[in-house]
Amino acid sequence: MFFERPDAGEQALLVHLHIKHGKLEEDYQEFELLAKSAGVEVLDTLTGSVNTPAPKYFIGSGKVEEIASAVRELEADVVLFNCALSPTQERNLEAALQCRVIDRTALILDIFAQRARTYEGKLQVELAQLQHLSTRLVKGWTHLERQKGGIGLRGPGETQLETDRRLVRHRIKSLQSRLEKVRVQRSQSRKAREKAETPSIALVGYTNAGKSTLFNWLTESNIFAEDLLFATLDPTLRKIKIPIYGPAVLVDTVGFIRNLPHHLVNAFRATLEETEKADLLLHIVDLASDHRDEDMAQVERVLSELDVENTPRLLVYNKIDLLDRTPRIDLDESGSPWRVWVSASAGQGRDELYKAISSLLSEDRLKCELTITPTMGQLRALLYERSAVMKETTGEDGSCKLTISIGKKDWQQLLQKSHQSEDLLDMDYR
Ligand code: GTP
Repeated sequence: MFFERPDAGEQALLVHLHIKHGKLEEDYQEFELLAKSAGVEVLDTLTGSVNTPAPKYFIGSGKVEEIASAVRELEADVVLFNCALSPTQERNLEAALQCRVIDRTALILDIFAQRARTYEGKLQVELAQLQHLSTRLVKGWTHLERQKGGIGLRGPGETQLETDRRLVRHRIKSLQSRLEKVRVQRSQSRKAREKAETPSIALVGYTNAGKSTLFNWLTESNIFAEDLLFATLDPTLRKIKIPIYGPAVLVDTVGFIRNLPHHLVNAFRATLEETEKADLLLHIVDLASDHRDEDMAQVERVLSELDVENTPRLLVYNKIDLLDRTPRIDLDESGSPWRVWVSASAGQGRDELYKAISSLLSEDRLKCELTITPTMGQLRALLYERSAVMKETTGEDGSCKLTISIGKKDWQQLLQKSHQSEDLLDMDYR
C-alpha cells in the first residue's frame, strides 16, 4: 500500500562516489549489480570522489550541476547514490536535480522488498522501509507541509505532514505488533515443524556469484508442467527432478552484500528465512572473484547466525570456465561430497552437481522398517503427522510394521518428543 513499485524498469543514472575517509568501499561493478537487482535500467554512471561529505548535498555544487545536466540530457527517472544520504541531503538533491533520488539504503530495501517471501519477511522489510521513510518525514518532507483539507482524514488545521507522520507511526506500530505475534507463533511451530515431503534446496551466495544463472540452468529444461503456476507466482521457487534422487524444490535467495547498513540486518535475515527450512544449502561461490575468500567468509558469518547449523551444505565453485578448470566433485574424509566445480553459464558440471546433491539428500534421510509396540503410540502418531509413513503392514505375529522415510534431523526430534531411544527400537535399515 505504501510502496507501490513501478511495473516497468525505471531509467536510472548512477552516481558512484569514492569516499576518501569513509568505510564504504564498494566497487563500481557491485553497485551497478545492486541497481540491476532492483530492476532499474542503468542509463549511465557518473563517478566522483568526496573528501568530507558536505551537509547540503553530500557532494559539491559543481558535481550537483554535472549530475543535473546528465539527468536532463538522458531524461533519467531516478538518480541512485552509492552512499547513505541524510534526509536533508536527499531532499536538497531532489530539488536541485528535479528528479527522484535514492540512496544505497533505500535501494537495498527495495531489493529486499522484491525478494522477501514469507509473511514475516514481508512485514520485517516493510517495517524497515517505514522506519527509513519516517526519518525523511520528520526532517525532509517539509515541502509537503501545507494546509490541506480532507474530509474524514484530518482534523481542522492539521497539515499534510502531520497526517503523513501519524499514518506512518500507526502503520509502524501495527507492523510491530503483528511481527510480535508471528514470532510467538513461529517459536511454537518450530518445535513441531512439519517438513514437506519434497526436500528443498536453497541457493545462497555472495551477490554476483551466479545463483540466478545456476537456478535457471538447473530449472530451464527441468520444469514440472504442473509447476508453471508456481513458477510465475514466485520466480525464485521451482520444483526440479534430481536424477537418481527424485523431486526437490530449488529456492533462489537474495544475494549477500558487504557493508549492509546496520539497521537493515534484520530485514535482510528475514529474506533468508526460507533457508532455515531448507534440507540442503548450496553455497555458490564465484571462483574467479578477486575477493573470493572475503565473500565466502561474509556468507558464512550470516549463515552462522541463522538456524541452519544442522543443515547439510555443499560448496559450489562456479565460473570454472574463466579459469579453465574441469568439473569435479571433492569428497571429505567420510566420503561425502563437500565441494563441486561447475560453470552455470557454460553448462559444465551438471551431472557432478546432481550427483553430489542426490548423495547429500539421501544421506540426510532415514529409510527403514520399524516395528511398533503398544507403548509407541505417540511416535506412530507423530510419524503420521509428518507424512513420514510410506507403508503399514501387520506381521505374522500380529505386530505392526511401518515403513518410514524421514529427514534425520526430524527423526531425532521425534524420538525426543515421544521419549523413545533409537537403541531400544526394532529397526530394519534398508
Ligand atoms: P545476485 O542476484 O546479485 O545475488 O547475483 P547472482 O548470484 O544471482 O548472480 P547472477 O546469476 O546474476 O550472475 C552474475 C554474473 O555472473 C552474470 O553476468 C552471469 O552471466 C555471470 N555468470 C554466472 N555464472 C557464470 C559462469 O559459470 N561463468 C561465467 N563466466 N560467468 C557466469
